[in-house]
Amino acid sequence: MPKIIVDPVKCIGCGLCVSIIDKVFKMNEQGKSEVISECGGDGECEGKVKEAIESCPVQAISNE
Ligand code: F3S
Repeated sequence: MPKIIVDPVKCIGCGLCVSIIDKVFKMNEQGKSEVISECGGDGECEGKVKEAIESCPVQAISNE
């Protein structure tokens, strides 16, 4: 089961991942992205997560 992780040190809080899929990512009080939910086998969701990983300007998101 893949686990989505945002590295809070790398994240610069650009918000792109949240705008791509706000079901998975949310901005926290520190202005960093946080994972609030996994996709749970939802293919469309997984595609958006992949898009977020590729779009993040600082490569802060991983899906291991
Ligand atoms: Fe941070 Fe990258 Fe999202 S900088 S807010 S993890 S797109």
